[in-house]
This record gives sequence, structure tokens and C-alpha cells, in this order.
Amino acid sequence: MPRVRVHQHVNPLAPFYRRSPTPIVPDDIFAEPARPLHLDIGCARGRFILRMAEAIPDWNFLGVEIRHQLVDEANRIGGEKGLRNLHYSFCNALLWIDRLVEKIPDGRLHAVTIQFPDPWFKKKHAKRRMVTPEMVETITGKLAPGGTIFVQTDIEFLAEEMFDLFRQRKELQEVAIEENPFPIKTEREKAVEEKSLPVYRRVFSKALLSNKL
Ligand SMILES: C[S@@+](CC[C@H](N)C(=O)[O-])C[C@H]1O[C@@H](n2cnc3c(N)ncnc32)[C@H](O)[C@@H]1O
Repeated sequence: MPRVRVHQHVNPLAPFYRRSPTPIVPDDIFAEPARPLHLDIGCARGRFILRMAEAIPDWNFLGVEIRHQLVDEANRIGGEKGLRNLHYSFCNALLWIDRLVEKIPDGRLHAVTIQFPDPWFKKKHAKRRMVTPEMVETITGKLAPGGTIFVQTDIEFLAEEMFDLFRQRKELQEVAIEENPFPIKTEREKAVEEKSLPVYRRVFSKALLSNKL
């Protein structure tokens, strides 16, 4: 089947994308819902977590994407492959990540990846950027002690803007890294590497005793 064609960008503040998503209930979508969960926010066609779900069958993987056609396509492909540890959700993560994850038990989330999010370069479009203090608070709160958040982009100002938001969470420890710690690269990472562009990366790790900080 040919790849579904979609707009390159959608405006996350347009009325269509302001509708709230249905919260994810792990028991309803994963064969083994109690397993550690990896959340990939802004997953596009979702090939990164598809490969991760194949490589690590004892974890669950949830991809979040605003372009619903890509979500439908990715769920179809995951279903055809019989992957019961993989699911994709249509969600505007800028406005609704808290609602999407509200029924995921605290501590179930063990890894989050945010890879090459749209930079929305112009100042007048800054409000469309996906990573906000509220998103950082939500995912940090849901993260298991010892869990990790991996952020990477090739846009330096956006990297610094995002890293600063994570630095403000006292539960998180910043780890500078040269290489992607995951065995699989996203489509955007491969494209950036082919052009030999720099990539700015960090891991933020949640302290094991974060509830006592
Ligand atoms: C540049 S692409 C990178 C895709 C993938 N992470 C990669 O590295 O190849 C950014 C993705 O984030 C999605 N996105 C942008 N804003 C979003 C939002 N508010 N909520 C969810 N996804 C969003 C876009 O639709 C797009 O698929």
C-alpha cells in the first residue's frame, strides 16, 4: 500500500486540533499492560517505535502524533505485524498530553523520546512549539524513578529552549551525550546525518528518590 500523503505541518492552535483526546488506558491497548512504557512524542510515521517494539518485546511503546492520517497508517502497520506492545494515538501534545496520559499509572512510564520537533522558527509562531513547561511537568510527573527523557534536535536555539525547560525540574538530572543512546534512528535523524548537520542531544534522568527531594 502506498504511503499516505499528508501536510508537512499543521497548526496545533487551529480549532480542529483543540479537541481533547481520549485518555490512554494501557489495559485496553497492550497485551501486557503492566510492562514498562516508552512514550515517543511527535512520532510522525512512527517507524522508530515500531522498530523498538520489535526489538524490545518486553516493553510497551506508545507513539503520539498530531497528523491523524499518520496515526491511522501506523496503527494499521503495527496491527499487520501483530505487535501487541505498540500503539499510536492522535493527540495534540502541545495542548493535551496531560489528558492523554492521565490514566497511565504513575511510574509505568520508563522512557520518553522527543526527537526533532518542529521548530516553528518565526517569533510569531513560537506558541506552536510542542515542548512547554506544562508538558515537561506532566511527563516528569508520570516518569518512574530512574526513568529517562531523551531529547534531540538539529536546531540549536530550539535545543537550548527545550533543555532549559527540563533543567527547571529539580527531579531531573541532565546527562550530556554525544550519541543517540537508542539502537534505532528516526527518519529525521537519518536525514540530518546524511547532510552532516550537528545534532544537539540530552538525556534527563529522574532521580531514584525524587519524591523525597
Ligand atoms: C520534524 S518531525 C520529526 C518526526 C520524528 N520524531 C523524527 O525524528 O523523524 C516532527 C513531528 O512532530 C509532530 N508534531 C508537531 N507538533 C505536534 C504536536 N503539538 N503534537 C503531536 N505531534 C506534533 C509533527 O506532525 C511531526 O510528525
